[in-house]
This record gives sequence, C-alpha cells and structure tokens, in this order.
Amino acid sequence: MTASIDPTATSAWAELSALRETFAPDLRSWFAEDPDRAERFALPLADLHVDLSKNLVTDEIASALVRLAEQTGVAERYAAMLAGEHINTTEDRAVLHTALRRPAGASPALVVDGQQVDADVQSVLESLSAFAERVRSGEWLGVTGKRVTHVVNIGIGGSDLGPVMVSEALAPYADAGIEARFVSNIDPTDLAQKTADLDPATTLFIVASKTFTTLETLTNARLARAWLWEGLAAAGAIGQDDASRTGAVAHHFVAVSTALDRVAEFGIDPDNAFGFWDWVGGRYSVDSAIGLPLAITLGPERFREMLAGFHAVDEHVRTEPLERNVPVMMGLLNVWYVNFLGAQSHAVLPYAQQLHRFPAYLQQLTMESNGKSVRWDGAPVSTDTGEVFWGEPGTNGQHAFYQLIHQGTRLIPADFIAFANPAYPLRDGDRDVHGLFLANFLAQTKALAFGKTAAEVEAEGTTGPLVAARTFAGNRPTTSIFAPSLTPAVLGQLIALYEHITFTQGAVWGVNSFDQWGVELGKQLALQIAPAVEGDEAAAEAQDPSTRALLAYYHAHRAV
Ligand code: F6P
Repeated sequence: MTASIDPTATSAWAELSALRETFAPDLRSWFAEDPDRAERFALPLADLHVDLSKNLVTDEIASALVRLAEQTGVAERYAAMLAGEHINTTEDRAVLHTALRRPAGASPALVVDGQQVDADVQSVLESLSAFAERVRSGEWLGVTGKRVTHVVNIGIGGSDLGPVMVSEALAPYADAGIEARFVSNIDPTDLAQKTADLDPATTLFIVASKTFTTLETLTNARLARAWLWEGLAAAGAIGQDDASRTGAVAHHFVAVSTALDRVAEFGIDPDNAFGFWDWVGGRYSVDSAIGLPLAITLGPERFREMLAGFHAVDEHVRTEPLERNVPVMMGLLNVWYVNFLGAQSHAVLPYAQQLHRFPAYLQQLTMESNGKSVRWDGAPVSTDTGEVFWGEPGTNGQHAFYQLIHQGTRLIPADFIAFANPAYPLRDGDRDVHGLFLANFLAQTKALAFGKTAAEVEAEGTTGPLVAARTFAGNRPTTSIFAPSLTPAVLGQLIALYEHITFTQGAVWGVNSFDQWGVELGKQLALQIAPAVEGDEAAAEAQDPSTRALLAYYHAHRAV
C-alpha cells in the first residue's frame, strides 16, 4: 500500500497558508482590473461550460492549488484507479466505476485481477438492454399475460438515489408508457404508498442491492412479494400453492446485485438477475446494472448515451493538464474553501426542476466518500475533510435559504447549474418563461459575487440603520455550470464531474473515498435493539439509560 501524503506537510500547503494570511477577496476589483477574467476562468468540459470566474481565487492561488495537487499525487492516484490498483485499501478492492462507461471495443482491453473487465461490462450491458427492450416492447408479460406498466425499484443508498435522480432528471425521455417508482425506506409507509394504486398483474419489481444483505431492501422485497401474492390471489389470478407463487415471482421480480447466490436464495431466478462487481461502489453504481429501471423507462439507447457522457468526462480528467482539468480545479477550490477559508458546507443549486434530487444524490456521493477522519493508510487526517453538501432547485431555494448565503456570517460556496433550453418551452403571453427562470440564475450569481455597497443603497434613497441591513457584502463564491440542454449525455457528464471533484478532494486529503465504515455501527446496533423494540425485556435492560428511557416511552405510547 502506498503511504498517504500529509497535505499539510507540503510546500504548496505552506504557500496557500501564507496567501491566506493576506487574502482580501474583491471580485469587483478583480473583474475591473482584469477584463479577461470571465474568459480566463471559464473552462470547457465536454458539453458543459464551467465558469469559475466568480470564485475567490487569483492566479496565484490557482497555481498554488495546482502545486498542491501535484505534491499530493492526484494524477498518480487517478492513474492508479484507472489501472485497477486496489486503492480502496480497507476493503482491498479496485475502484473501477470508470470501466462501466468505457466504450465497447476500448483498447487495450482492461484486465484487472484476472478479470476481463471490458468484456464483462459489455456482456451485462447487453443482457440488461435486451431485457429492457423486452419489457418496453411488451414481450415480457406478467403472470396473467398483461404488459408491465409500472416498475418498482426496491433499493436504498446507492441502489436508489442514482436511479431516482436520473429518472426524475430525464423524465421527458421516458417514452415507453412505463412509470418507475422507487421504494427505499424501511418505514412501511414508503412501500404502502408507492404500491397503493398499483395492479400486481402489471407491476415489475426490481430488487437492487449490491450486497443483497441490506435490511431495508430485503424487508421491503419480502413485503412486496407478499403484496404481489395476496393481490394476485385476491384477483383469482394465482393459487396459494408454492408453484403458483414461484411462477408469480418469476414474472414480477428481477434483481440487480453482486451477490447472485443470495438473489437465488430469495427466490429470484438467476436468469432474471443482473450482476455487477465489488469494484463498483454503491454510490458510484448508477451507470452499472443498478440503472436497470432507467434502461426500461428511458430505453437502452438513452442509457448508453448517458454512459458516453460519463466517459467523455473520464477522458477529460485523464488527459487534461491539472490547471485546465475542470473536476480537479473544482475539487481544489473546494479544498481552498474548506481548509483555508473555513467553509463547512457547499450548496448545489440546479436551475432545473428536473434536477430536484441531484443534491440528495450528491450527498451520498460526496459525504459517504469524504466524511473520513483517517487517511487511507490509517494515519489520522491533519486537517478538515468532507464538507456538507446540500441544495434545492432555484428558484425555490431563493425564497427559502438564499438569505443566509447572501447575508449570513458563513461562507457557503455554491454551484449553479443551468441549461440554455427548457424541457418544456412554455410561454406566459409574450414571455419565454425559461428566459425569466435563467434571469434569476444570472441575477443570483451576480448578486452573490458583487453585492451592493452602502453607497449604492443610499443612492436609492435609503437612510439610517436600514442601510446596513440592505447592504450586501458580495464576494460569495459561485461556480456556474451551463449546458445547452439536460440530455442523457449531459446528465452523465454532470454526475461524472462530481464523482471526480469528490475524487480530487479525497486524493488531496489522502482519505479512502471508497469505503463507508461509518454506516456499519448503526446497522449493527439496529439489529441488536430490534428485539428490545419488539418487547424483549432483557434486551431492553442491556441498553444505555437514554435508549432504555426512549424504549419505555415507545412501549407506553404504542397503540397496539
Ligand atoms: O449506507 C451504506 C451502504 O452500504 C451504501 O454505501 C450503499 O449504497 C447502501 O448501503 C445500499 O447497499 P446495498 O446496495 O448493498 O443494498
């Protein structure tokens, strides 16, 4: 295992610390003194136009950040990932989500740990596509001979957030008359509500779980199976015998997993299961077979276009020099904000209602990846790591939390994502509504950068204490990500952009961005506490005083 590098021990870190000492951001002057700033800090990334000019960065800082990437070996780590080295040290695994989107016939073929990675990826993609086409065309039928009208994906975390997000983002491309729904929470409300108006005879369940051990997913899958059996039996479509039930599952359940043996144990025919591999992290898996619901609703072609979008960004990261490498520069800017300017969170603000689940998706991607306190070799980190990612689509957020970004005391770097063309070109009389929407995106990034001085407020006739309240300091950093339209390819590019931003930050910090031990303890304790919730007094007694008291409250108030 390569020893991790302590970023704070590099000369670039010392340089950045010194620059921080005298740092006085002034976007107004920077733009006034450098008429080319907007062009110089705008970088192309496949179909995306990424404007970094409204960030709190000078040429000097940008160069020092690039040196930090060099001295912490970001490019070398990326190369190690692409080559299949086991950079996920704590699980001794390769990290190869980038292999999921290599084009068919890529040369030289990728072979890792004896596995023909490209061939395996293409083989699953082909069977997934063929299955999706069967469902879309109506060749695949339910047990009563009816076509599938609804696909219900049962999964959680990476087996849910990506497919949900993409399904919403690309909804205008769903052209087969098949609706996708997503059940994730073990709160029984989720399954109950999502199936309430469905007909079992026309519903196909996809049980999606990398490990096929996740409590929530397996519980929901059993509930869904019981719902299917009961519904079909009540309609007289099947009997209560095992053979009828097995037949129903064969027509209405498929699975996506790396553990095909456990899929079979659950009763799903391995012929109806789609595999992936342990080198795909859950939060990096939307472009694996986990994308099955997308291949069904959008079609395999659209799914492949999305994969091509991912790949274009992978290639950019691999080939562009660090200073023109968009994900690297965005990751480095985040390091600057977190470690030198004290930012604790990062807002992602899509000006596209279709991307309303994108911030939630990014929360798992970024926070499960970089929420770490030790480096990949076990040494404690010497500086802050992962920031909180959050956000909501504009303009909704403008009327909720933007106040704090504009005038609060905290620094919150924000990414604005917008598209020149709308999915639905509606007009309000003479007005193009999308144009009005985009005017808001431009206005917000402008207000955050340049603010409003007291003199400007006074010039409008405001006097007294109101002047201070109406003054905007400006110098609130933003990145604007603009694209022609939200197509499958552009969405793939956006997701890959954030994957590689996350990678860059993790590489600088020296953490393993590909494990998630922090979620394990809670899972174990939930299993230990479950008997106490169910009434086992000894199990309750074994708990700490606070948990015991909460259990007592629960038993006193549960109306059963
Ligand atoms: O929350 C932990 C986690 O392991 C995630 O990393 C993962 O995406 C999720 O649980 C679901 O896991 P699985 O796909 O194995 O059911």
